[in-house]
Amino acid sequence: MKIVVINGANLNMLGIREPEIYGRESYADLCEKIEAHAKNISVDVEIFQSNHEGALVDRIQQAYFDGADGLVINPGAYTHTSIALRDALAAVGIPAVEVHISNVDEREDFRKISYIRNICKMIVIGHGTQGYLEAMDFLLEEYKK
Ligand code: DQA
Repeated sequence: MKIVVINGANLNMLGIREPEIYGRESYADLCEKIEAHAKNISVDVEIFQSNHEGALVDRIQQAYFDGADGLVINPGAYTHTSIALRDALAAVGIPAVEVHISNVDEREDFRKISYIRNICKMIVIGHGTQGYLEAMDFLLEEYKK
C-alpha cells in the first residue's frame, strides 16, 4: 500500500509557530514519526509539504498518476479557503483523511469551515501529530477491506 502525506501552508514551521497550539515537535520530527509508523505498519509513505496552493494541487494529481492508495492531508489554512484543493481530491478519487493538529472546531469560527471535509473519508482533529498516524491506520484498514 502506498500513502502520500500532504502538508500545506506553514506546517514546515512546526515547533516554531505558536507552540502553545501546535506543540514543540518540529516538522522534521513529524516526518520521522510518520516514516517510523509507515515502517511499523508496512506501508510505503511519501511526505510532501508546500506553502503554495497550486503545488498542493499538483501533488494530489501526481498521487493519482503514481497509483497512490491513500492520502493524508493537512492543508493548513487552505482548508478553509481552497475550492481548488477540494476539486483536486474529488478529481483523483483516492481515499483521503483530513488531519488537523489543533482542534479547529473549537477555535475561531473561520476555522470551522472546511472545503475538503465532505470529500474525505475521515477527519482527525485535535490529536496533535498523532493524528497523522491514526489517519494512516484508518487508510490501511480501508485498503484491506
Ligand atoms: C491546522 C489548522 C488550520 O486552521 C491552520 O491554518 C493551520 C494548521 C492544524 O493542523 O491544526 O495552519 O491545519
